Amino acid sequence: MLISGRFFVYNEYMENGMLKYYKIIGQINAVISKSDTLNDALKNSLKALIDLCNANYVVIWYRDKQDVLHPYYWICPCDLSLTQYNSGEGVVGAVYKNDKSMRLLDYRNDQREDINNDFAGISISSFVCVPISNKYENVGVIELIKEEGQFSQDDADVFEIMANLISYQIEDSEKFKQSWQLGKSIISIKDVKKEYKNGEIITQVLKGVNLDIYDGEFVVLLGESGCGKSTLLNIIGGMDKVTSGNVAYLNQDLTDASQEELTQYRRDNIGFIFQSYNLMPNLTVKQNLDLIGELVDKPLDSMEALTLVGLADKKDNYPSQLSGGQQQRVSIARALIKNPKIIMADEPTAALDYDTSIEVLSALENVYKKGTTLVMVTHNEEITKMADRVIRMRNGRTYEITVNLHPLKASQLLW
Ligand SMILES: Nc1ncnc2c1ncn2[C@@H]1O[C@H](COP(=O)(O)OP(=O)(O)O)[C@@H](O)[C@H]1O
Ligand SMILES: [Mg+2]
Repeated sequence: MLISGRFFVYNEYMENGMLKYYKIIGQINAVISKSDTLNDALKNSLKALIDLCNANYVVIWYRDKQDVLHPYYWICPCDLSLTQYNSGEGVVGAVYKNDKSMRLLDYRNDQREDINNDFAGISISSFVCVPISNKYENVGVIELIKEEGQFSQDDADVFEIMANLISYQIEDSEKFKQSWQLGKSIISIKDVKKEYKNGEIITQVLKGVNLDIYDGEFVVLLGESGCGKSTLLNIIGGMDKVTSGNVAYLNQDLTDASQEELTQYRRDNIGFIFQSYNLMPNLTVKQNLDLIGELVDKPLDSMEALTLVGLADKKDNYPSQLSGGQQQRVSIARALIKNPKIIMADEPTAALDYDTSIEVLSALENVYKKGTTLVMVTHNEEITKMADRVIRMRNGRTYEITVNLHPLKASQLLW
C-alpha cells in the first residue's frame, strides 16, 4: 500500500471578503508493502519529513499502559533509551521555540539545558511534538527537533497532517501499549572517538559515539562496511582503546585501563564470536571447549554449553567433520564456557546460507534467553527483527536507534 500525501497547508486569509490562497508545503510518500510494519512506514515518512522541514532529529514516543511516553525510534546521536516523559506534562501538539539553543545534557532524564554546557549531547533550538492517535485514542507522539533556527507553524501543521495520516494505519494500539523494560546499563560509552595514525595520515573512525548497553538485551549493530562497527565492538570488548571519550563497564572505568586490566576484563566478562570460527582443527569439539574452561575460574560445563547450541551429540567430532553452521555453533558454545556477561558477535552469519544462519541464530537466541547480553554486528536487515534494539551506524556515529516492541524468533525470519 502506498500512503502518499501532498500536503496543502492552507494559509487562509481573507481579502475583500474572499479566501485568498493556499500553499503547498510538500509531498510525502510512504510505501507499505505486505511485509512492512507500521513502524517501517512511520520511519520512512519521518525521513522524508526531516528533509522537507530541515529538521535534524526525530523521536517517536509511545505511550505505555501507565500513560508514560517512551522513545522507541529515534534519529539522534544520543542513546535516548531510558528517557521518559510523564505524558501529563503537555508536551503534545505544540511548537517550542527558544531564544537560545538548549543542549540535551542528560539524555536519560531529558533535561534540556543551556547550550553553554559542552557535553556532547544534541543541541536543540526548536522542537515540535505532534500526537499520533488511532481511531480510539492517543498512542504516542512524534517529536521533531531542529538544532538551529525555528520550526514554523507551517511545519507544525505539516507534521500534524502526517501524524493524522499515520493514525489511519494504527489499528492495534495494544502494540504500542506494551510496557517495555530495559535492564540496567552495563556498558556506558560517552563521546567516544577513535582515530588511527599511519605516519602522517590520521583516519577518524569513531567520531563521537554515545551509547549504553543494557543488561540482558539483544542489540544489533548495522551499518555500511567501514562505518566503525567492528571498532566499536572491539572497544566495548576491551580489545581496543579509545582516542578520547569514556568507556565504562558497570562501575569500572575502562578508558585508561592497562593492558593487564583489559585482559582481565575480557577474560571475566566478554565472549567473542567472529565470522571465522577459529576452532583448533586437531582437537575435538569438546576439547576445544575444555581448553577455554581451563583458563577461567568458574567455567560453564562444556556439555551444558554444547546442549544449549544443540550439538551435544557432536562432542567427539573434529571441526572438519562439521558443517559451517555447526562449527559456528561450536564457537558460540566456546564463547559461553566463560559464562560471560556479554557476548560480542561480529557478523557471525556472514559466511553462511539461509538455513545455516537460522540454525546459528537459534543458538544465539538460546544464549540471550539465558540472560546473557548479546551485541551482534550484521549486514542482514532481516536479523534486526530479532533484536531488542537496533542501532544503525553511519560514518563513525550512531545514527538511528529502534526499540523493537515485538522481537521475532529466529525461526520466524525469512530472506
Ligand atoms: N588498525 C587500523 N588502522 C587504520 N585504519 C583502520 C584500522 N582498523 C580499522 N581501520 C579503518 O577504520 C574504519 C572502520 O573499520 P571497522 O570498524 O572495521 O568497520 P566495519 O566493521 O563497520 O566494517 C575502516 O575505514 C578501516 O579501514
Ligand atoms: Mg567489521
